[in-house]
Amino acid sequence: MTTNTALKKPFIQTAINGILTLGMIVVGIITVTFGLYVLRTSPGTSLMEQARALLSLDSTQTWWYITRASGLMGYLLIWFSMIWGFAVGSKVFDPMLERMFSYDFHEHLSWLGLAFVGLHVVVLLFDKFQPFTIWQVLFPFVAPYRPFWTGVGIMSFYMFLLVTATFYLRAKLSKQTFRKVHYLSIPAYLGATLHGLFTGTDSPLFAVDMVYLITFLVTVFLFGYWAVTLYQRKVEEREKALAAAVKRHKERYRGSHQRSITRAR
Ligand code: HEM
Repeated sequence: MTTNTALKKPFIQTAINGILTLGMIVVGIITVTFGLYVLRTSPGTSLMEQARALLSLDSTQTWWYITRASGLMGYLLIWFSMIWGFAVGSKVFDPMLERMFSYDFHEHLSWLGLAFVGLHVVVLLFDKFQPFTIWQVLFPFVAPYRPFWTGVGIMSFYMFLLVTATFYLRAKLSKQTFRKVHYLSIPAYLGATLHGLFTGTDSPLFAVDMVYLITFLVTVFLFGYWAVTLYQRKVEEREKALAAAVKRHKERYRGSHQRSITRAR
């Protein structure tokens, strides 16, 4: 039993770390390739033209496809990070994975999800059919396309960014503040789901609707489980504190009782 767990831990961790590292290498290679290409092309060519030429993506549809694909990827990764967070909070992985690893993985997933959302947004600036300006992607509710639900997506992005940034401020923040900021991921997730559902070109597709439905149901289940374990832990802590107070009181009483007996003698 012990040997099994000891063997399992490094294998799962190495596999997940390997996949993540590979993903980051691919993203790094693409970024560097584009950087080098930009450096080699003649000055005066705009960044958009360079990117289009490099990827040979001149069809009106292509950018829209990339936005949709990266939006869905970002959504799935952020969702996965959030449910992983619920599982970590409920100590589900404690028998299998080191706590430090679970936290790191949670953080990695969030950054990876945000990177995909970053791509989702940047690509809109290049779009030929419905181009967005930098202000329209930065400020909520001013977008030229479904302004309300696009605005909800922008707000969700900022909330996720704040939650993820606090991973770095953990040592400086109190436990309560860290937790309160972390709770923002719940409205952010709901906002991102509604944003995807009401702005997405792919929402009428049955498969995409199933993705939203299944992710939502899993979230509700794990949120419920996490809330129950949190409540149970609080009750246990309160009971322990009460038992300690009773013990202290009894010892103090026994001490003073002993002293009065000694004095009476
Ligand atoms: C946490 C943040 C975000 C997530 C998880 C997210 C996710 C998604 C998803 C899943 C879709 C539907 C894609 C499809 O149907 O194939 C979508 C669509 C869209 N999002 Fe976002 N998004 C986020 C933030 C943003 C931001 C900041 C903008 C900025 C303007 C934005 C603009 C759009 C637009 C214009 C569409 C419609 C594209 C289409 O036709 O499918 N999103 N997003």
